Amino acid sequence: MGIETRQKFDGYAAKYDEWFMKNENLFTSELRLFKRVLGDIEGKKLLSVGCGSGLFESYIDCSNVEGIEPSEDMGKIAEKRGINVIKYGLIEDVDLPENYYDIVYFNGSSSYMEDLAPVYEKCLRALKDDGRLILLDVPKESAFGFMYLLGKSLNTYDHEYLADAMPELPYPLALACSGVWHTTEEKINVLKSLGIEKFEYYQTLVRNPLYTNEESEDVVEGYKSGGYVAIIAEK
Ligand SMILES: C[S@@+](CC[C@H](N)C(=O)[O-])C[C@H]1O[C@@H](n2cnc3c(N)ncnc32)[C@H](O)[C@@H]1O
Repeated sequence: MGIETRQKFDGYAAKYDEWFMKNENLFTSELRLFKRVLGDIEGKKLLSVGCGSGLFESYIDCSNVEGIEPSEDMGKIAEKRGINVIKYGLIEDVDLPENYYDIVYFNGSSSYMEDLAPVYEKCLRALKDDGRLILLDVPKESAFGFMYLLGKSLNTYDHEYLADAMPELPYPLALACSGVWHTTEEKINVLKSLGIEKFEYYQTLVRNPLYTNEESEDVVEGYKSGGYVAIIAEK
């Protein structure tokens, strides 16, 4: 079960959860989006790719959720929260059963992967014929995406370019720096190249990052203004 190499989220499990707990309204908005796009999961088989600490899943019945997670720090917490972590490793290195899951989802994890096409292809094969692949992420083109990329290129948030523009408690810099940050259309195009034709899009965090945590937000359709966007792809 063990993994030898240090993973991007090792050592950040507590900080990651703490960040969401301190940004309660932001978390509530993202959780609303997560619940909305999963829909009714009763009796369904789900796979969470990069399940992390299972924070979001701790707010749903996750008895039918399996997880894959490279960071043991994160995955051990997910197991305590009820996710069946079937593999400690990278999705790239995992063999999945074919035509098995109703829903395979990536909640924030595509943003830590370089080459999405082989990974999504593998997950589409693992879905039943009417299954859904769901991708939730901070889009590269959003205000959050720009903020993380600027932090990454400066290697700090504490810079005159960002003065007075940063939220009080920004996402941990190391996790912004290790992100790959894809655009939504990049992911849509990857899925189209794999034969997907039916899509739905939902978003939240449409306020600028400085004000995001003032109030929780409702889910709205579309993908062009949110700081957290979900793509639902029907197989
Ligand atoms: C932003 S966190 C999201 C965690 C969790 N899904 C959540 O919503 O709280 C991204 C997660 O993806 C995992 N991850 C990164 N690269 C991965 C890969 N190649 N395969 C599977 N998981 C990966 C990280 O270890 C981390 O737990």
